Amino acid sequence: MTFVLGIESSCDETAAAVVDAALRVRSNVVASQDDLHSEYGGVVPEIASRAHLERILPVVHKAIGDAGIGLGDITAVAAGVRPGLIGSLLVGASAAKGFAWGRMLPFFAVDHVAAHLFAGLLQTTDAEAGAAHGAAHGAAPGSASGPASGDDGLFPAIGLVVSGGHTSLFRLASATECALVGRTIDDAVGEAMDKAAVMLGLGHPGGPNLERCAAGGNAQALRFALPSLPSPLDFSLSGLKTKLLYEVRGVPRGRGAQASFERSSADLSDERRRDLAASFQHAAIAQVIDRLSRAADHEPARALFVGGGVVANQSLRVALGAWSTARGMRLVVPERRFCVDNAAMIAGYAQLRRRQGDAGDDLSTPTEPVSILARGMAPKRVQ
Ligand code: KG4
Ligand code: ZN
Repeated sequence: MTFVLGIESSCDETAAAVVDAALRVRSNVVASQDDLHSEYGGVVPEIASRAHLERILPVVHKAIGDAGIGLGDITAVAAGVRPGLIGSLLVGASAAKGFAWGRMLPFFAVDHVAAHLFAGLLQTTDAEAGAAHGAAHGAAPGSASGPASGDDGLFPAIGLVVSGGHTSLFRLASATECALVGRTIDDAVGEAMDKAAVMLGLGHPGGPNLERCAAGGNAQALRFALPSLPSPLDFSLSGLKTKLLYEVRGVPRGRGAQASFERSSADLSDERRRDLAASFQHAAIAQVIDRLSRAADHEPARALFVGGGVVANQSLRVALGAWSTARGMRLVVPERRFCVDNAAMIAGYAQLRRRQGDAGDDLSTPTEPVSILARGMAPKRVQ
């Protein structure tokens, strides 16, 4: 059995995991930094990279220990090398490279967006799932499938990544051949949800707080139009944000830093806050489903691969499940804990590349702020 050690440190989670050749997650450790950043209302890059430095070795040791193996059992090492905060990426990538070099193992430089896309192929073992506290299992109710047991018969597929940094649609010919066909022209869905949460007076982390607040709210209380863009598969979230801002605080007098508002979020009643959160969440999900329908109408596909932190949102999971069932497509959706940033998806993607005979990357592979999948619309072989 081959074991890949994966390391992920692109933003504010320090994570390490061990995944075997059957894509079974043998261990999955995530040290969150939410507590360090919450007082600033967002991630502070310098604080994030320092915290990664302190946590990386204990997290890696715990991942190997939890997997019930020794250092000598690791067959290859993978790290997320792009996209992300450079100072943060450097810590995880350097640790992985050092490990690979010291033990003369292959090193896989993994694109974080590609790893999100295929996290739905990860399998869990009872031992690991039992060790994970509060893990939610399986696909959304109504979805066409849970984690797929292999990647046969799933291509061609549509890929969707909705995270804090990305909202992108792909045509997938295989797990390593992706073409970007649509993307947000402004904010990512997760970023917009985080900002909507701030506007509504809900704290960091915004996405999960918005979801909690939206529960029980009336999603029809505020109607948002679907944006109409020159490129039919592109997304836009900034109009939704502006509409929400004006609804919460009134139309501002003046512009930019000089703008003054007539109200604040503290003036909202709890009921109105719930209604606005539900309406905003509903509008963001409606846009995702609309773009998926356009993509599937344009070119039929066998499966839909989804990933990224926003896919942890239960309303989105239900909508994706209903959509793929109606279209007769397989839905390959990660467990909620594998939607948000984690290292199992990094190790899992390296295993997918190994399956295709890929021997890994040079240790000189740099860390970079932008995903290879975000560069231009031409089909790409992804590494
Ligand atoms: O994939 P991820 O962990 O990091 C990036 O690669 O960006 O995604 C983080 C994003 C954040 O914007 C966060 O608010 C959002 O995912 N998110 C959620 C939920 N959980 C995380 N958004 C809506 N509902 C959630 N339950
Ligand atoms: Zn991510």
